[in-house]
Amino acid sequence: MSVLFITLEGIEGSGKSTHLPFVADWLRRHGRQVVITREPGGTPLGEQVRGILLDNRHRDMSADTELLLMFAARAEHLHEVIMPALAKGSDVVCDRFTDATYAYQGGGRGLPATRIAQLEQMVQGDLRPHFTLLFDAPLELTIERTRSRAQPDRFESERLAFHRRVQDVYRSRAAAEPRRFLIIDSSGTVEATQSLLARKLAERMPC
Ligand code: TMP
Repeated sequence: MSVLFITLEGIEGSGKSTHLPFVADWLRRHGRQVVITREPGGTPLGEQVRGILLDNRHRDMSADTELLLMFAARAEHLHEVIMPALAKGSDVVCDRFTDATYAYQGGGRGLPATRIAQLEQMVQGDLRPHFTLLFDAPLELTIERTRSRAQPDRFESERLAFHRRVQDVYRSRAAAEPRRFLIIDSSGTVEATQSLLARKLAERMPC
């Protein structure tokens, strides 16, 4: 059975990070080795870049700077973590990847998708996730969930319209690539979402 590169996506408060351990455990129960990681981040350099990207002091960062920092962290992550893990036969479960760039820098910030696609090709070559789990819930509910967080970061502090554009891009990417995306309705309780998740994984994972 070939290795799997699985990414988790969704707007803030969609629950993707809560459900990541469940996805990894599900794969392990099916006898697979799993490396868990995240973007931006996943390496010492990437985590430093993440610090810059989320820092509210850089509120006026240009959209192109943001885009290039995302891909700089991604290049390091691919080189140090993702490619070596896949080469050793481990599955990789990654909390966000390039769909987030199309959604946030493309949808949210308004950068052209063609510019993102050029960097995607340069940094990733032909590597794309085998499966992407999109956690989807009504925007109002996700805002309610994030409101309880103590210190909103640079992205969480964005206006409602920004998050709506991000969500629209996620949904249209999922609609355009139904074989890669599994859409998980995460508007219910953690338990309800996990039972949906278990069902979709059983239906769609090749293991
Ligand atoms: P997290 O809150 O899921 O850990 O992600 C950190 C933030 O980074 C989140 O607000 C989305 C943002 N992000 C982008 O804007 N573009 C990207 O390519 C990635 C990976 C994340």
